[in-house]
Amino acid sequence: MRRKVIAGNWKMNNDISATISLITEIKKGVNDQTKAVVIVCPPFTSLETTQTLLKDSQIKYGAQNMYFEESGAFTGEISPLMLKSVGCEYVILGHSERRTIFHETDSIINKKIKTAVKHNIKPIFCIGETLEEREKGITFEVCERQVRQGLEGLSESELSNLIIAYEPVWAIGTGKTATSQQAEEVHLFIRNLVAKLFSKNLADNLVIQYGGSVKPENAKELLSQPDIDGALVGGACLKADSFLKIIEAAN
Ligand code: PGA
Repeated sequence: MRRKVIAGNWKMNNDISATISLITEIKKGVNDQTKAVVIVCPPFTSLETTQTLLKDSQIKYGAQNMYFEESGAFTGEISPLMLKSVGCEYVILGHSERRTIFHETDSIINKKIKTAVKHNIKPIFCIGETLEEREKGITFEVCERQVRQGLEGLSESELSNLIIAYEPVWAIGTGKTATSQQAEEVHLFIRNLVAKLFSKNLADNLVIQYGGSVKPENAKELLSQPDIDGALVGGACLKADSFLKIIEAAN
């Protein structure tokens, strides 16, 4: 049985004081009745504070991005060693905002996933088609390319901690969610692809999250699909109340 994983991608929101309030509120609602694995991904500047706040908590945390080199002349970038030094267990890689606004290619994302794995940081690897691609009927093709290229050169054992987040770009921050059937069909496609590329065992154990306008109102329906193992939440994770309702929907 795969455990549901609910992750909050804070994006470029929350300074230190907002981080303290939000995490303090989330902590109040997560306890030993909570079945899902809960992850928060604040901005880099809040990671150290997050580490302190989540010491002895079951809530896990990660970063939203990472560079693929360990150190050197890469102004403005953050290395896996830096993430390790603030105790990050996870890192979101290949988010569509990184792909579109910051021009990250499948090959850059592949290097980042390799680096994360090497440093024992669990990747939350995002894929998903744009509206144009969906309308052209090439959703599966696009997702297949992203999975193949993103995971190229990695072995089954290196991917045992991988999470894939299927996030249709047209559903991110738009309020337009994929229907549970639309999401389920792509999730199943991804799982079968991973079985073909690696093994059935890896595919059976792989957590595939859905992301794109997940909110308390649609979480239960999405999370009840057989191949939807969690959610990567943007907007609705910025308020403890709505994030906790989504976590509750996974129970
Ligand atoms: P959203 O963002 O929930 O605001 O659509 C999801 C994401 O970008 O991970």
